[in-house]
This record gives sequence, structure tokens and C-alpha cells, in this order.
Amino acid sequence: MPQPREGAGSDPGVSALSLPSRPAGMTAGLMDRYGRRATDMRLSLTDKCNLRCTYCMPAEGLEWLAKQAVMSAEEIVRIVRVGVDMLGVRELRLTGGEPLVRADLLDIIAALRQAHPELPISMTTNAVGLDKKAAGLKAAGLSRINVSLDSLHEETFTKLTRRPFLGKVLAGVDAAWAAGLGPVKLNAVLMRGINDAESPSLLAWALDRGYELRFIEQMPLDADHGWTRRNMITAAEIRELLSVDYVLSTDPRDRDGAPAERFEVRRRVPGSAEAAGPVLGTVGIIASVTEPFCSDCRRTRITAEGKIMSCLFSREEVDLLGLLREGATDQQLAERWQDAMWIKPKAHGMDHVGLDAPDFVQPDRSMSAIGG
Ligand code: GTP
Ligand code: 5AD
Ligand code: SF4
Repeated sequence: MPQPREGAGSDPGVSALSLPSRPAGMTAGLMDRYGRRATDMRLSLTDKCNLRCTYCMPAEGLEWLAKQAVMSAEEIVRIVRVGVDMLGVRELRLTGGEPLVRADLLDIIAALRQAHPELPISMTTNAVGLDKKAAGLKAAGLSRINVSLDSLHEETFTKLTRRPFLGKVLAGVDAAWAAGLGPVKLNAVLMRGINDAESPSLLAWALDRGYELRFIEQMPLDADHGWTRRNMITAAEIRELLSVDYVLSTDPRDRDGAPAERFEVRRRVPGSAEAAGPVLGTVGIIASVTEPFCSDCRRTRITAEGKIMSCLFSREEVDLLGLLREGATDQQLAERWQDAMWIKPKAHGMDHVGLDAPDFVQPDRSMSAIGG
């Protein structure tokens, strides 16, 4: 659905000083001034990553945060508790960088699970090393995982991630499934001339194994600032690529504010518009650029250094960890979080303008420093 023109890049509140403040007495959850309420908390455990995906990180990596700048396990547990107990957070996604590189990951998950027995806690990971950790993660209380997997070809995978780890990732995905961390969702960012032609075989592979694959339009969140609209594979192109072998029909389940639009997949009768046989599974398309879903956004983000980002494209970050370390009460933390979400932009704005146009400025943070 087209969004109104106002976006993160053109928001009247680009300067914090000019942003409207939250009306006094407004205490119900993480509401923004456009009436959306964030219930999906995405918390980055680290900015570090062991891959160098071209759409995210530069080849040489980034300068990592100092250890003391990153939230400790106790600080994470406290912040999540404020979100869940005081602000209506209903699900938690752990992100990175790469969350598996954090040494105390199991302790963090176990502590979160103990504090919130019913909370869905999931993790988005590149799955390197997951084969050895999946069972432990499940035992600690992790609910499920999403894995980034852009190619099943060794050479393409290595070109895209700049690391020869396809075998490790596939072992990780299978181990997660075997450990009961399903439904396993796979994220594939399609890149023109690199892995776009592979999309039908990637889907066939996922359907065979019962994994839910989602194709993602590349967003301008790469540290190299190399994104171009021309190179981005659009959702319309993705549907066309898949329609050679498959018939896609809208999944009747409610999208519920999710980034992915889901489709049921049936095999196509060769040379016809007809579908044959049963539903083989579902595929998702995440069309952040050409079919944005900001109007129904339910996400709030905390970076590894404890900054609140109301939007993936925020250029306003509000420091929560600093306040916590100054000795703030839970109530003070909750109020700062509410203030930060109140100024969430209406939309990201990249659907209307080119990257060079004045009203969309790529955020300083790359995806690895936000967490997806
Ligand atoms: P589930 O389906 O609930 O597992 O969640 P999800 O789709 O949010 O999962 P994931 O964290 O794996 O995100 C998949 C992709 O969706 C990300 O890589 C982003 O490309 C995109 N995405 C996630 N959240 C947002 C968002 O708030 N805004 C935009 N524009 N894109 C998002
Ligand atoms: N555009 C779209 N998705 C991206 N991801 C990382 N960078 C980008 C980008 N520039 C996705 C990865 C991973 C998730 C955390 O974010 O596929 O699954
Ligand atoms: Fe939400 Fe993402 Fe749109 Fe920002 S860009 S409003 S986080 S959907």
C-alpha cells in the first residue's frame, strides 16, 4: 500500500529539538503520534559479526564497540522487564550483529526465560556455529529462529558473505530444526546478477524441508552505501521469478503487522496459469522499499549499546542504557522509552525518492549495527 510522503528522511522531527513531545499523562504502552503501538521488541546483543555480507558490512568489518559500551546481561534483563511488564511488549527478537558470537548468550536467554515464562523469544542469526549451540539454546528457553541464507551455491554464498561458511550455515539450520527451534524461517536478500536466478531453487529447497523462506528487497542499509534502486530486485520481480514454477496465492492468515507478506505455494502446471496438487508450503516477500508496511509497524528497537531506535531508519536515537547506569528507576526508563517511540517517523520515505534525493538520507548505522 503506498505510504504518505512524509518519511524518516523528511520527517519534520529530524532535529530532536523540533520534535513534538508526548502529551502529559499518556502512559499506555509504546504508542507513537500516528496511533501505532509497538509490542514487538527487537534487541541487539552485539554489533560484532563473523560474516561480511556485502549488503550490510564492508569487507574490512567495522570498528566494534568497546565491551563496556555494550549492555551487560543484567542490563538486558532489566530493560526487557521494563518493556514487558510496564510497556506492553509481547514478543522479543534477539538480533546482532550476530547474536551467537556473544559468549553469555545462553545465560541471557535463560535469565529472560525465567523472568518471562510465556514470552515468545526468537533470534535472527547467520547460523554459523548454530549446529553446536542449537540444543543448548532450546534448553535455555529460546522459542525459534530466523536464519539469513542467500544462496545454496558455495561460490555465490562466499561472494555474498565474503566467508566460505555455507556448510556451517546449512548444518546450523538443520540442527535448529532438529532441536525444536521451529518454525525455521530463512531470509534471502536477492541481488541482481548474483543470486536472483537462484530464487526458485532456493524456494524448492526450503519447501522440501519445511522451512519458511522469505525473499527480502535490499534496503539502503549497507555500510558501503552501495545500494542503488536499479540493482534492487523488487517484490514484483520476485513474484515473476517464482511464477515460472509456482502459483502463489495470498495466505489467508492475518499478516499481523509482520514485514513479510505470505503466500501459499502450489506447483504450476507447465505452460498454464493453473496450479496442480496440494499447497507445498508458504513463501514470504518482504517488500520494504516498493510495498512498505510502516503504517502497521509494531516494532521498537534497542541497539547493543542500549539506544532506542523507534524505526529501522531512525536518525534519532535515544539513550536508555546511559539513563539506567545513572541509577534511573523503572518508571523513568519506561517514560524515556515512551518519549522515544512517540517521535517514531510515519514511514521511512525510501519508497518515494532516490537515495540521492534530499528527503531520504541513508542512516549512519548499517544493518549490522541495528540488528535487522
Ligand atoms: P518473523 O516473521 O516474526 O520471524 O519476523 P521478521 O520478518 O521481522 O524477521 P526478521 O528479523 O528475520 O526480519 C526479516 C527482514 O525484514 C529484515 O531483514 C528486514 O529486511 C525486514 N524488516 C524487519 N523489520 C523491519 C522493519 O521494521 N522495517 C523494515 N522496513 N524492514 C524490516
Ligand atoms: N536490506 C535488507 N535486508 C538486510 N539484511 C541485512 N542487511 C539488509 C539490507 N541492506 C537482513 C539479513 C538478515 C537480517 C538481520 O537483515 O538478511 O537476515
Ligand atoms: Fe517500521 Fe521499518 Fe517502516 Fe520504520 S521502516 S516505520 S521500523 S516498518
